Amino acid sequence: MGASFFVGALLLITLLHQGNCGCDFYKGSWVRDESYPLYDSSSCPFMEKEFNCQNNGRPDKEYLKYRWQPTGCNLPRFDGRELLKRLRGKSIIFVGDSLSMNQWMSLNCMLHTAVPEANYTLLMRASGSDISTFTFPEYNVKLTLYRHAFLVDVVPKRIGMVLKLDSVDEGAKVWTGNDVMIFNSWHWWTHTGRKQRWDFIEEGGKTYKDMERLVAFEKGLKTWAKWVDSNVDPLKAKVFFQGVSPDHTNGSFWGEASANQCEKQAQPVAGSNYPGGPHPAELVAEKVIRTISRPVHLLKVTTLSQLRKDGHPSFYHGHGRKHRLMDCSHWCLPGVPDTWNQLLYAALIQN
Ligand SMILES: *[C@@H]1O[C@H](CO)[C@@H](O)[C@H](O)[C@H]1NC(C)=O
Ligand SMILES: *[C@@H]1O[C@H](CO)[C@@H](O)[C@H](O)[C@H]1NC(C)=O
Repeated sequence: MGASFFVGALLLITLLHQGNCGCDFYKGSWVRDESYPLYDSSSCPFMEKEFNCQNNGRPDKEYLKYRWQPTGCNLPRFDGRELLKRLRGKSIIFVGDSLSMNQWMSLNCMLHTAVPEANYTLLMRASGSDISTFTFPEYNVKLTLYRHAFLVDVVPKRIGMVLKLDSVDEGAKVWTGNDVMIFNSWHWWTHTGRKQRWDFIEEGGKTYKDMERLVAFEKGLKTWAKWVDSNVDPLKAKVFFQGVSPDHTNGSFWGEASANQCEKQAQPVAGSNYPGGPHPAELVAEKVIRTISRPVHLLKVTTLSQLRKDGHPSFYHGHGRKHRLMDCSHWCLPGVPDTWNQLLYAALIQN
């Protein structure tokens, strides 16, 4: 009797244990949750205008009411107070493009909402630099945003601006020494014409006028991966890759060919699969990260974000109606990046 109870309990514990560790947080679907959003923009006074869709006049609110539900388990509830306690004395850095800013701003809002009484400081692009900081002095926690879209260096040379696929020296000067690093890169690799930030690409002692962009991205990411492998002490720092944040600029990817990009999208794609399939840049990121022997946690946000065709600012980006530019790349806040941060939280408290 006693023995079978013991065996039964052991089995139960094993099952529970498997239930937790065997669960993939990144597989699931969006479900309605009346308790959402996790904060509102009025409780986040420093919110970046461009992400503040409700303030910018977005008429629908349904998109605020979705929670990511993994298929086999639940995400831990985000507890900002707990996170600040665990991060006491630590510095977190987001490195990348404006999608990094989206996630950084979301985390600042989530933490401030958890401890509204705590003092904070916000320095946006201090003295014109690429660095912004948000701090909680009482917790001695610093969250830095370093705008550095390629991770590899872009340097001025006589011939023009050169994208150096072999070097992360400039960036590493800034991110080295942080306790948690969350990297992201992709969107700027695709730009051509006036938005392209470089004139030449340099790699292996050779100079190129251009290169297939996914190939260049892979080479650049490999350089970053090598840096992680030879410079990160896993006992001192945790490294994350934010994963590739998807755009919604073509409705045929979600079976609505007549859609004008993400305009008037008010609901997520139902279920767990995105009809448009995996994102090619995400596949590259996964491939490169698999080659790193140091622990790097890939926040696999691509698929869950692909399902959120309703999550972008579209015309409610705050640049005025006359600016008919539609933003189907960034995300409204509150919104999808809050879930990225719930996933970051889950990864941080698990070990
Ligand atoms: C917040 O900052 C103010 C001004 O610097 C200071 O007087 C106050 O004591 C701080 N609050 C806390 C809780 O530390
Ligand atoms: C959207 O994608 C489909 C399928 O790849 C393509 O045929 C179509 O030209 C694209 N539309 C636009 C506006 O880019």
